[in-house]
Amino acid sequence: MTRLVALVLIVAGALIATAVFAQTWPERVAHSPLDALRGTTPVNTEGHPPPIPQPRNRSERGVRNYPEQPPLIPHAIEGYRIDLNSNKCLSCHARARTGESGAPMLSITHFMDRNGQVLASVSPRRYFCTQCHVSQYEVTAPISNNFVDIDSLLTGVQPGARR
Ligand code: HEC
Ligand code: HEC
Repeated sequence: MTRLVALVLIVAGALIATAVFAQTWPERVAHSPLDALRGTTPVNTEGHPPPIPQPRNRSERGVRNYPEQPPLIPHAIEGYRIDLNSNKCLSCHARARTGESGAPMLSITHFMDRNGQVLASVSPRRYFCTQCHVSQYEVTAPISNNFVDIDSLLTGVQPGARR
């Protein structure tokens, strides 16, 4: 008998908890600052995904944000393969190809091994280009930031900047 009472109590407790949770769910989701996949759409409704953005495809090279930055890829790279047998990027950016492609050559650092020894061809460390270089899409950033260019920082344009 006591077992039956305990069972009834557990089931009732679970039902109440579910009801309370279901009521507060949408509010909780609405308060999350950023949910990349579902946004504020409750789990029991279908979301409306935003349209797929266009890749940035320009002929100008971008300004680097700091000297050591791997430059951003200014052109679309969809379908460019990089694997053991082929590297599409090198078909334009390799030293011997830059004449016909008009693409900038990889810098000398891409030929150096980890000891700074310069090799005859691209170092394996720099073979998988998209490990460091990324293309861009025409989108507005979901989160703003207060990045300041080093030149602005050095000229003291930024209030409170040290010199
Ligand atoms: C069809 C030739 C071609 C292919 C293939 C190609 N690129 Fe390019 N790339 C260019 C040209 C030309 C530029 C110069 C800017 C422009 O015209 O878009 C460039 C610019 C760049 C830059 C900017 C360099 C700088 O100093 O700002 C990077 C980085 C780059 N490419 C990386 C890549 C990577 C990584 C791949 C492979 C995923 C790739 N490219 C494939 C032709 C190519
Ligand atoms: C480990 C990171 C890394 C990898 C992998 C890498 N790069 Fe770079 N790349 C950089 C950095 C950092 C720079 C800027 C400083 C420099 O030149 O080393 C750069 C510069 C460049 C430049 C501009 C050169 C110039 O003189 O303006 C091009 C073009 C480029 N990379 C293409 C490529 C291609 C194509 C590949 C693949 C074969 C590749 N990179 C692989 C980090 C990388």
